[in-house]
Amino acid sequence: MKTLPDVDLVLFGGTGDLAMRKLLPAIYQQVKAGTVSAGSRLLAAARKDMTREAFLALAEATCRPFLGADFDAATWQAFAACVSYFPMDVKDPAAYGALAAALGQHPDRVRVFYYSTSPDCFAPISANLGAAGLVTEQSRVMVEKPLGHDLESSRAINDAVGEHFTERQIFRIDHYLGKEPVQNLLALRFGNVLFEPLWRREWVQDVQITVAEQLGVEGRGDFYEHTGALRDMLQNHLLQLLCIVAMEPPTGSDPDAVRDEKLKVLRSLKPFTPADVATKTVRGQYKAGAAGGKPVEGYAEETGVAADSRTETFVAVKAEIDTWRWAGVPFFLRTGKRMPDKLAEIVINFRPVPHPIFDEAAHGGRANRLIIRMQPDESMRLYLVAKQPGDAMVLHPVNLNLDFEESFRARRLEAYERLLLDAIRGRLTLFVRRDEQEAAWCWVEPILASWAANEDRPKAYTAGSWGPAASSALLSRDGLSWNEED
Ligand code: BG6
Repeated sequence: MKTLPDVDLVLFGGTGDLAMRKLLPAIYQQVKAGTVSAGSRLLAAARKDMTREAFLALAEATCRPFLGADFDAATWQAFAACVSYFPMDVKDPAAYGALAAALGQHPDRVRVFYYSTSPDCFAPISANLGAAGLVTEQSRVMVEKPLGHDLESSRAINDAVGEHFTERQIFRIDHYLGKEPVQNLLALRFGNVLFEPLWRREWVQDVQITVAEQLGVEGRGDFYEHTGALRDMLQNHLLQLLCIVAMEPPTGSDPDAVRDEKLKVLRSLKPFTPADVATKTVRGQYKAGAAGGKPVEGYAEETGVAADSRTETFVAVKAEIDTWRWAGVPFFLRTGKRMPDKLAEIVINFRPVPHPIFDEAAHGGRANRLIIRMQPDESMRLYLVAKQPGDAMVLHPVNLNLDFEESFRARRLEAYERLLLDAIRGRLTLFVRRDEQEAAWCWVEPILASWAANEDRPKAYTAGSWGPAASSALLSRDGLSWNEED
């Protein structure tokens, strides 16, 4: 990849979990790849009072395990040479002087402000940057979710950030959009003629989107108590994946052409009535069980969680899209913590052949299926049936690997590497526009409202299982089952 012009990246929340686990390793990888110029600067800001050296020592100790064999001392030195550290209270306007002095006057240089802090800092940081005159024409801001916890609070954050940055300068991150298989799905759909004619209600029976995690809330109990799986994962990651599957072919690859189509999908999602919420959504909460072969406590026993908590750690919904293309095709979305595996996949189940000429035993009853997997491995497989070699006409399921891992031996970029590079280059396609985000909130709010009004607790599921039994029942009512139950 070509070396980029000099850039200044200001990382608020520089000592946080996301910075240490994802952002600093992503920047290191790009230094190693030669994309980041030697004149570029990383200005990390956080509350902790420490020296640059102490920050670098912390960063090295924390990032190394995430870099594994990619770590080497020479690249780390080159990375470290770009880094400075600013201990500051980001809400305090007076704290911005040192940052302003360090940034200096470089109106032509790309300046990226990354808000990796809690959302209550987004408005004050924006105001303080504005007041200090740090928002130049070439500035961009990258904002991490959660962007609010409902439509109103997300609007308030967007308004506050929007006072100092134009929409063209705002890069709202959904890191699932940066994942390689998601890009590949776009390539598959819109770079080939083969799939598009089949990509509709006549040929697709149902779509399943699963993002399952084996981890629990990992010490984030007090954050998660006020969030839950619907806000944390479904409102953003799963709905964005649904958009990529369901959108119409955009007129071009420019950001707004793609985002317009995603917005249309979000606006076509059938709204939930309270009766729908009862029958088409399932919320669960894990109880004690096992993860990775070890016993684990239930959610309600985790630190920071109320013993009688009603927060969901699992959610499954049956979504429907009211368009000619998708009318009647259920989109099942599910996500949960403490499930058996870390698994993220999109399954497109095609309809059975209209008139089977092979008997059931020979055919195995299998329909075609496309599985786009983001975790644990990145792959894209098309399942077909083929004749098993031999004299009998016996059909057997086979799969075509559409990922061409063998063909493209290039190193794959982590989602955060791609998103950082795109933001530096000013490419907005993989970032969520304000109207998309608000449309997603509009759709999930009735679910949240119905759950809040309902006295029921989430259904319990054992840690290490695929969620409450009601999740299977959600599909079986349509004569269907989740991919792993087939
Ligand atoms: C984040 C959620 O957005 O995504 C976390 O806040 C979740 O709760 C994470 O663990 C999952 O991301 P990934 O890429 O590891 O599947």
